[in-house]
Amino acid sequence: MKTKYFIITGSSKGIGAELSKQLLKENHHVFCISRTENKEILNIAIENNYRYDFVSIDLSNIPDVIKMTDQIFNKIREDDSELICLVNNAAVVTPIGTIDKCNLDEIVATVHTNMLSPILLTSRLLDATREWKTSKTIINISSGSGKYPAEGMSVYCSTKAAIDMFTKCISLEQKTKENPINIYSVDPGMVDTAMQETARNAEHDFQLKYFFVEAKNEGNLKKPSDVAKKIIKNYIK
Ligand SMILES: NC(=O)c1ccc[n+]([C@@H]2O[C@H](COP(=O)([O-])OP(=O)(O)OC[C@H]3O[C@@H](n4cnc5c(N)ncnc54)[C@H](OP(=O)(O)O)[C@@H]3O)[C@@H](O)[C@H]2O)c1
Repeated sequence: MKTKYFIITGSSKGIGAELSKQLLKENHHVFCISRTENKEILNIAIENNYRYDFVSIDLSNIPDVIKMTDQIFNKIREDDSELICLVNNAAVVTPIGTIDKCNLDEIVATVHTNMLSPILLTSRLLDATREWKTSKTIINISSGSGKYPAEGMSVYCSTKAAIDMFTKCISLEQKTKENPINIYSVDPGMVDTAMQETARNAEHDFQLKYFFVEAKNEGNLKKPSDVAKKIIKNYIK
């Protein structure tokens, strides 16, 4: 039986961790990518003898990202693969604050992590598998913040808007291909994760912060496990 390969960025916590956990199963090979390893995922893989690789990387470090793409794609063979699915999920919401007060290094790191890394990973996947008959899917985790401007969140909102536009462009490019990839931009809604906590607890007093606090207090945040389940059901065939 052939293998379904999954490459999931931001796998250590939140939505990415839940996606990774739910995708670990027989005939799947899951590559988890983040700075820290989620030990629960490691243990599930060991106990069940599932195919799992953890790649420790800082996605804001672009030379490392370029090296990593070779490391991963060298491990995937066409004759063994039924599906290759890349989930560009890793992201950071900081810096939060008006742009004049944002730290420049933090702006660079966020643009690299949220926007440039997904673009590079997509480019490399499409190049490495150009002639392959294997099914290919890319899921870019987007956000409502890519559509609705928010004071104090300009860097995050801009990177998410860029991901939406990037997805639309690649969709157009793929239309003329013999074996086109399926590429989606998915807004998960508001989810109870560390990212929400960061936004709620931000020092900067911005309008959306109170909306996030209220959503948490009123129990309106979604569970990461439910969000992951829905993404798998709707986008991974
Ligand atoms: N939570 C929400 O309400 C919400 C709403 C809309 C959209 N989203 C989107 O959903 C996705 C997942 O968010 P989440 O809420 O699950 O976030 P989260 O719980 O904060 O998790 C973020 C993940 O990204 C990884 N990551 C962050 N910076 C990284 C870096 N420089 N290098 C490598 N990995 C990095 C983290 O791993 P390490 O720290 O171990 O590196 C972690 O695994 C994001 O794209 C986010 O924009 C979330």
